[in-house]
Amino acid sequence: MKLRNIFENNQKWVEEKLSIDADYFKNLSKGQSPEILYIGCSDSRVTAEELMGVNPGDAFVHRNIANMVPNTDLSAMSVIDYAVTHLKVKHIVVCGHYFCGGVKAAMQSQDLGILNPWLRNIRDVYRLHKEELNAIENEEERYNRLVELNVQEQCVNVIKTSQYQKAFAEREVIVHGWVFDIHSGKLIDLKIDFENILKNIQEIYKIC
Ligand code: CO
Repeated sequence: MKLRNIFENNQKWVEEKLSIDADYFKNLSKGQSPEILYIGCSDSRVTAEELMGVNPGDAFVHRNIANMVPNTDLSAMSVIDYAVTHLKVKHIVVCGHYFCGGVKAAMQSQDLGILNPWLRNIRDVYRLHKEELNAIENEEERYNRLVELNVQEQCVNVIKTSQYQKAFAEREVIVHGWVFDIHSGKLIDLKIDFENILKNIQEIYKIC
């Protein structure tokens, strides 16, 4: 991949889209009404639209290191607010991936400067699930289980927000926890029971 090829690629892509539908960009410019908010990792190998097979306009996307939803992160909170309150998405997906560098870094005793406070959110996930994780002897398996548990906890962070709770009271907004298996290319639904989780944590986190 060379940077100068990108503009040629773009030109080809424009031509291809127009050859199928002459009004493609005219329609695209009318506005967006995606049904999915996708929160994923910034990892260059874990694309959003491509791995889901969706088109421009189908998914509202937020990506950061290790697909985190920290409640003090203005960017993640703004994305959730806009997606839920204005776009009225029907599904919120937190998608992690096995062999996530961010999750691995959080399992090591290493000073990573500005990344320390970010990765500490993952260390907090480890602390919450320490017993289960420490019982896994194989390091790779333990690390991949932390990827799954991190997805689960970030989904919980989504349902802790007032925006989500407000929307959930009015309509169906489903939170999904997925993992992308980088070795097979497959998306795995962790099938987390969020209605139950929401019920269990409501006494503490209920805002609206
Ligand atoms: Co990652």
